[in-house]
Amino acid sequence: MSDKQFATIAVRTGIESDSQHHAVVPPIYLTSNYGFPEFGDVPQYDYSRGGNPTRSLVAEAIAELEGGAGAVITNCGTSAINLLISALLGPDDLLVAPHDCYGGTYRLFNTRAQKGDFQVDFVNQYDDDALQAAIAKKPKLIWLETPSNPLLRVVDIQAVCEAAAKVGALVAVDNTFLTPVWQQPFKLGADFVVHSTTKYLNGHSDVLAGALVAKTQAHVDELLWWGNCIGATGSPFDAYLTLRGLRTLVPRMRMHDENSQAILAYLQTQSAVSALYHPSIASHPGHDVAAKQQTGFGAMISFELGCDEAGLRVFLSALRHFSLAESLGGVESLICHPGSMTHRAMSDEAQADAGINPTLLRLSVGLEDSRDLIADLQRGFEALAQV
Ligand SMILES: Cc1ncc(COP(=O)(O)O)c(C=O)c1O
Repeated sequence: MSDKQFATIAVRTGIESDSQHHAVVPPIYLTSNYGFPEFGDVPQYDYSRGGNPTRSLVAEAIAELEGGAGAVITNCGTSAINLLISALLGPDDLLVAPHDCYGGTYRLFNTRAQKGDFQVDFVNQYDDDALQAAIAKKPKLIWLETPSNPLLRVVDIQAVCEAAAKVGALVAVDNTFLTPVWQQPFKLGADFVVHSTTKYLNGHSDVLAGALVAKTQAHVDELLWWGNCIGATGSPFDAYLTLRGLRTLVPRMRMHDENSQAILAYLQTQSAVSALYHPSIASHPGHDVAAKQQTGFGAMISFELGCDEAGLRVFLSALRHFSLAESLGGVESLICHPGSMTHRAMSDEAQADAGINPTLLRLSVGLEDSRDLIADLQRGFEALAQV
């Protein structure tokens, strides 16, 4: 483990590493291939699908921030997830996953299980009996996404890892929502950490990329082999941008949280909000566990409006600063309707089962001035009051 603090790791990765021209910021290696010094002498990098120096810097930084042995940088978060299940699971293996995971993760697990690649149990992981019953089936892998997308439910990572260890199961945590700044799953016993670096780690909504971090070197080596084998690895240009984004990760995460607290306080005063979901709220069922295992509560907020679809349209149309868009974790604030956007890959029954109600909205709170963001929401509520 590093003796450096987060911000130092994030800012200084690769700084002053250029031995040729002493560029302070590391250069980008936009190349698909590399020369062999001589016949039979295989260099460290030979072909960029297998390895690229710019990608290596990002892998090194994210692995160090998470406290893992190493990482594979992939071309999106979904391919990081796909890489892990491709490497680990066979037809007889069971995967236990949350019934309310990110819609794309749900689709990937469901589709590949239907093809017979492995078996999957989608479980309500907040129902301890259901979770323990699933773990008793001795899965090969347990998938956690905490806080979950979009309802921000919280799972006790340490408790699941302890139960998993008793049956020989491995545990992977999707840490996209909090980043290692607010949550470090390896310290709680996880074996793998997955990121859609498309989100907070890059932070500027201009890259699609992912990271798969492993606790042990043996798993890192296996996953690097698989990453090259199935062509899951990311582009050097995306790696360069991600490294640039990572340099401001810590101050960005702090300000995302500060803004989200101001918005939460405002939303709590609005009678049109019929339900509000955020782990920082004391009455949130996952608040105590979140306070124990997270060092920050995160800047994703979900809420339901007490109106019909027509009211929802009016509210959304009145907004000027919150862009109606999928994704999250960028500098800009977004609002999303999970039922018709991020989670539309789930059937109506699966959505209802996961608690995704028709008027549920999800905010990704950005870095604008919180007064402007609150004024924007105010416009929405005023318009809704006219309906
Ligand atoms: C929590 C979470 N995990 C994984 C993904 C997939 O990442 P990507 O879109 O980079 O493939 C997303 C995308 O929204 C997500 O929200």
